[in-house]
Amino acid sequence: MRVLFIGDVVGGPGRRGLKAAMPLLRERHSPDLVIVNGENSAGGVGITEKTATALFDTGVDVITSGNHVYRHREAYDYLDRAERVIRPANYPHANPGRGHVVVEAGGVRVGVINISGAVGLQVARSPFHEVDNILERIEADCVIVDFHAEVTSEKVAMGWHLDGRVAAVFGTHTHVPTADGRVLPKGTAHISDVGMTGSRTSVLGVKPEQALEALITQMPVRFETAEEDVWVMGAVVEVNSKGQADSIEQVLLPAPTSDR
Ligand SMILES: [Fe+2]
Ligand SMILES: [Fe+2]
Repeated sequence: MRVLFIGDVVGGPGRRGLKAAMPLLRERHSPDLVIVNGENSAGGVGITEKTATALFDTGVDVITSGNHVYRHREAYDYLDRAERVIRPANYPHANPGRGHVVVEAGGVRVGVINISGAVGLQVARSPFHEVDNILERIEADCVIVDFHAEVTSEKVAMGWHLDGRVAAVFGTHTHVPTADGRVLPKGTAHISDVGMTGSRTSVLGVKPEQALEALITQMPVRFETAEEDVWVMGAVVEVNSKGQADSIEQVLLPAPTSDR
């Protein structure tokens, strides 16, 4: 069973880039399950029913998210309704949405869990305790975790915490891919961050001149989503019958431009 995980899709350029790249990704990797982080899919920040539907229409099976998930109020009802769109499980229980889902793919039950890091991000409960609690009760043959976190120390630590207990831990949130993808000794694939799907002529998806102005002047600046040189970033994991990973391969693909 092969899982393709795609990092934070940023705005229209990210959505269109993913759509254009999907045929090539399918041909190259033959994924049984496609998971994308959609927390930046609506205008660069947040997610809506419209952008989630657009992602599902390109062949995505499950959408994960993170700290920007509640940016658009009109999405709250949708998050409660849409089983396959998940948000970090360690947010307050009463918040819209759910933190994990079990789907059928490649003939097995795959649990997908979304967890937020606690360093530099706001959470209601420890990511380590939360994921343990979910693993105790989830009914799945293998489990994939999106660990949406800021710092590499916490992300690497989560890999070791879950080694041998889940098939893969994919890091998201920083939008910058790391070069540490590997299968840990007890069989869990781990990468600190898969990167983003969006413009590389940007600062994390934002037009460079605007991000620079904000950083240099320390004044409020309206951010717009950058559009040039869109890349799709993610990773592919081969999961075996024991629910562990045989391999992890990073995906760093310039989106084909003919369709955009
Ligand atoms: Fe993001
Ligand atoms: Fe984030």
